[in-house]
Amino acid sequence: MELHVLQHPLIEHKLTVLRDKNTPSNTFRELTSELVMLEAYEATRNLEIEDAAIETPVAPMVGKKLAAPRPMVVPVLRAGLGMLDGMTRLLPTAEVGFLGMKRDESTLDIITYANRLPEDLSGRQCFLLDPMLATGGTLIAATNYLAERGAKDVTSINILAAPEGLEHLKAEMDPKINLKVVVCAVDEKLNEHAYIVPGLGDAGDRLYGVI
Ligand code: URA
Repeated sequence: MELHVLQHPLIEHKLTVLRDKNTPSNTFRELTSELVMLEAYEATRNLEIEDAAIETPVAPMVGKKLAAPRPMVVPVLRAGLGMLDGMTRLLPTAEVGFLGMKRDESTLDIITYANRLPEDLSGRQCFLLDPMLATGGTLIAATNYLAERGAKDVTSINILAAPEGLEHLKAEMDPKINLKVVVCAVDEKLNEHAYIVPGLGDAGDRLYGVI
């Protein structure tokens, strides 16, 4: 597992406004999109490219374009949906699949309740979107799911991570699976309800205005 914690004044500024409990849902959604776009720049650094012959108004040249097969972007429902718009703005040719995973709040087990993904992901570069890397359980389950279907590599884009979740990943992930994690910050800890501290609260509720 390769971890990238982004350091940039714009990310720090936007993240602070995002965390603020007084930030309303519309601003929260806008900031989430902007942060994902900034993260996507780093997260897509290893996208495969291939030669592309074109003509500029001045001369022919061989440039580069994204190679086939198309990258696969997978928001984890529900909160990952809030990151989709930012990601597809930067990567408009990506295919989008959906994975519905949630935590059973009493046992903290991960339940897969929906999936809309091709059975065969051979050779595909996959991007998981989920704002909060808390216990790491969802990310482990989702990454295994994609790897079992042949994904070439998996990049997880999260806004915040907890140290406990990152430790869990290191301990549990099969090292043969090529996993990269890109986050805006690693916070202090998880609380007894598995919320990230200081965090930003329940990302899904804040995105969709649930009080
Ligand atoms: N999911 C959230 O929405 N927030 C947390 O702090 C942890 C998991």
